[in-house]
Amino acid sequence: MPGGLLRRLAVSDPEALLRIAVDAAGEAGRLLASWRGDERPEVVDTKSSPTDVVTQMDRRSEALITEWIRAVRPGDTILGEEGGQTLGGPGPVGGGDQARVRWVVDPLDGTVNYLYGLPDWAVSIAAEVDGTIVAGVVAVPRFGERFTAVAGGGAWLYRDGNPEAAIALRCNSGVALGQALVGTGFGYDAGRRRVQGEVVAALLPHVRDIRRGGSAAVDLCSVAAGRMDAFFERGLNYWDYAAGGLIAREAGALVGGLSGRPESTSMTIAAGPDLFRHLDTFLTRLDPERDAPRES
Ligand code: IPD
Ligand code: CA
Ligand code: CA
Repeated sequence: MPGGLLRRLAVSDPEALLRIAVDAAGEAGRLLASWRGDERPEVVDTKSSPTDVVTQMDRRSEALITEWIRAVRPGDTILGEEGGQTLGGPGPVGGGDQARVRWVVDPLDGTVNYLYGLPDWAVSIAAEVDGTIVAGVVAVPRFGERFTAVAGGGAWLYRDGNPEAAIALRCNSGVALGQALVGTGFGYDAGRRRVQGEVVAALLPHVRDIRRGGSAAVDLCSVAAGRMDAFFERGLNYWDYAAGGLIAREAGALVGGLSGRPESTSMTIAAGPDLFRHLDTFLTRLDPERDAPRES
């Protein structure tokens, strides 16, 4: 095969990128699940607020994933929650072409659940080619589940007990807002939480119920799997929703921001198309993309 064609295939084959992501997420998930200390894992740092913690395991997981990706694709860019963005060096495959691929990594989504021994936490890895997400995996070790998608190829669930059997995912459709089970999450900043609390209080009487799972990546996969009808959150980072957003979309959900805008740190909503529109209208009236002063 001519070298140029080989390089293009190597760069843009989403299935190949997904396999790397799945392997790396599997290894990282095993590392995280192997924590058997009687004590909680050590909190080594805080980020946006004193309750926004980083454990030694967040860092170890990201180091493992970075090393794994670097071993097979040394030229790619990696954006990781803990390490920020790092550019690749020249590598054996593709050379400069590999700069087209960027990996978006949340090495442990749901750190607070992990710290307290709750099971909803995940490893989330997405692969972008030229700025578009083409593959994603969310591995949820405590449930023995792995959610995957490549763009245009549907969304799939694999269970540890039966790793060969892929279950096609489809989000719920035709659910009225009043019948909807809606997931959400809260940021770490007190002023933002004040508004998030107001928004949830206004929404609660109009839906079946609200869930706060503690891992946005898992929440988005729950929408994909029909375990929740909708999810929204203000303040997510790209690594929180990069893989889960693709998985939800590939399962038939609309994923976006308010009023036709794309999903972003400002707002991410995921739901079947009709419910998405109703939730969008309801939330827009509440002006949820604002923050109260911390001490109001
Ligand atoms: C958090 C989780 C949580 C969401 C927060 C995120 P982290 O990620 O996804 O569900 O509500 O906004 O920051 O800090 O556990 O990686
Ligand atoms: Ca996260
Ligand atoms: Ca994290």
